[in-house]
Amino acid sequence: MKVPMKVQPAKRTENITYAVRDVVVLADGIAATGKEMLYLNIGDPNLFDYRTPEHVIAAVVDAMKANHCGYGPSSGIPDARRAIGAEAEAKGIRAIQDIFVTTGASEAIDVALTALVNPGENVLVPVPGYPLYGAILNKLGVQENPYYLDESNGWQPDVADIAAKVNDKTRAIVVINPNNPTGSLSDRRTLQAIMDIAAERGLVVLTDEIYDKLIFDRRKYVSLASLSDDVPVVTFNGLSKAYLAPGFRIGWGIVSGPAEVVGEYIEAMNKLLRARLSAHHPGQYAIAPALEGDHAHLGEVVAKLTRRRDMTVQMLNAIDGIDCVSPGGAFYAFPRLHIDRPDSEFAAELVGETGVVVVPGSGFGQAPGTQHFRVVFLPSEEVLERAYRKIEAFLKKFKAG
Ligand SMILES: Cc1ncc(COP(=O)(O)O)c(C=O)c1O
Repeated sequence: MKVPMKVQPAKRTENITYAVRDVVVLADGIAATGKEMLYLNIGDPNLFDYRTPEHVIAAVVDAMKANHCGYGPSSGIPDARRAIGAEAEAKGIRAIQDIFVTTGASEAIDVALTALVNPGENVLVPVPGYPLYGAILNKLGVQENPYYLDESNGWQPDVADIAAKVNDKTRAIVVINPNNPTGSLSDRRTLQAIMDIAAERGLVVLTDEIYDKLIFDRRKYVSLASLSDDVPVVTFNGLSKAYLAPGFRIGWGIVSGPAEVVGEYIEAMNKLLRARLSAHHPGQYAIAPALEGDHAHLGEVVAKLTRRRDMTVQMLNAIDGIDCVSPGGAFYAFPRLHIDRPDSEFAAELVGETGVVVVPGSGFGQAPGTQHFRVVFLPSEEVLERAYRKIEAFLKKFKAG
């Protein structure tokens, strides 16, 4: 029999890393030995004590029973688009030109980038930041142009760094606010400065606002597109985080800016949207009930996360060799490790010895010479407390050895 030839994967997959999931492979191996695991690595609220609101679930079940089980419209069902538009207007976004519903915010990000950039061009992305952007840009053969968030300034985007990194091949600036992995909430002044750079240099702004309702300390959220009617902006959001339904895979993009500026770009995105038919059809029926219905769950979620955030910051900062900026939103913290070995080794040895799973900072990008790890503070106080005690004891040994 002829030996089958190995199937060679495409080169474009070579540089794609996804540390958030990569660490799971390692953890699974440890878990298989019977060790007790403490998972502080996955941003999925439904794995912990958070549940999708009943009325959001009911809307999908009702849609299925009503036979909305065929393909949906490519841009999304009209009632969902109306509700998304009304909410965006309430946030102060005025020059809305298009709204499209997608398979999670992830697909909206993919569509917005795919329709915009060519190989040889580049996109400014925050470092540290969510690795999906790099993965998509890699697939497109487009260069990531990293700009830094300033840890000494509460992880605010470094506006001077953004201005310095724009070149004649730069097409867009990605903003993730609140950010994953730092949990930092950008202030209005910084956001305005980013919009000013985009206006001056003719860039599209892609703003990922998936955590915009998970904000602590009663701080006011500023939606980036509300700061200018003149800059082309695509705002990403969805049901995954604030409505505790990541498995619905429902997200969206809102395109704003002057009609004549964004018209061709919108048509390019719609070509891609038509080619992939539609987002999950029944799931789209949850959008209007979610955005316009009872938000009682959100108060409880934010209160719970605030307690867990406070505990995280307090316990981690009490550890010798760790400094942690307090997150303003989302459910992530990105503590700094004062160690002289790579954080990938720290995370790998930590899970092996203690069963505590965190993602190393290198998976999100970080300033050269610095080491971090990301914790997800979704788990219960009891789990977090045990995990942080184990981290404290482990770090002492790690530093000594
Ligand atoms: C910053 C950010 N954007 C997008 C996503 C993906 O969202 P979705 O589930 O809507 O695809 C995540 C998920 O963790 C995220 O952290």
